[in-house]
Amino acid sequence: PRVAVIVVAAGSGTRLSAGAPKAFVGLDEHTILWHALRGVVRAPSAQVIVVAPADRVGDALTDVREVAGDRADLISVVEGGATRQASVNAGRMAVWPDVEIVLVHDAARALTPPDVFARVIEAIEGGAAAAIPTVPVVDTIKRVEGGQIIGVIDRSELAAAQTPQGFARLVFDAAYESSDVEFTDDAALIAESGHEVVSVEGDTLAFKITTPPDLDRARHLVSPLHA
Ligand code: CTP
Ligand code: MG
Repeated sequence: PRVAVIVVAAGSGTRLSAGAPKAFVGLDEHTILWHALRGVVRAPSAQVIVVAPADRVGDALTDVREVAGDRADLISVVEGGATRQASVNAGRMAVWPDVEIVLVHDAARALTPPDVFARVIEAIEGGAAAAIPTVPVVDTIKRVEGGQIIGVIDRSELAAAQTPQGFARLVFDAAYESSDVEFTDDAALIAESGHEVVSVEGDTLAFKITTPPDLDRARHLVSPLHA
């Protein structure tokens, strides 16, 4: 089945605060978006849709041409919205009619290995309506209220959600068309519409560049000095 990947890159990067919209901040001589796209084009997919801030569509196209070369016609760039969900929805509108599997990926998870994409696609091909990569939670998590620890949470039943999150196209479209609530990720929206979401193995390299220390780590990982 044909696969489309929506790469959401239209956020402002408030927490990173690096002087440009996050996806357009440099890791080395290339941007976060460039690195994210390099992972996407190495994974099995037919169509790629980049969702960029309105004033960065041209910059996004530059990255697309550099990464994809003669396959650049499989990649389009559309304008994002005020929230991540609005940006995903803008990307959704550009999905080709014959696509059967849709993946949504954060550009901010720039170093996500191609294997993670493959595992998500495989789960949907195997019949799951939705599949997301997860990694175990390493910290002990507490429930806190008014400065007091009020509850113990069994860490073994927790996992951190990553992207790409994958969906059967019909399920994805139906969920987005009927929802008017904001969710923090796409899997939550799909679960809300009554579908089971399966977990596949994520990768610590799929971490989201959110804060300045995350940016330092990503820059270190792509530097030629890093073996
Ligand atoms: N995103 C988007 N459109 C938005 C908000 C977010 O496409 N209106 C994208 C971001 O570009 C990012 C991904 O969603 O790749 C995950 O969001 P996040 O890490 O929160 O990025 P920002 O919203 O840009 O950062 P912040 O919340 O710190 O402002
Ligand atoms: Mg955000």
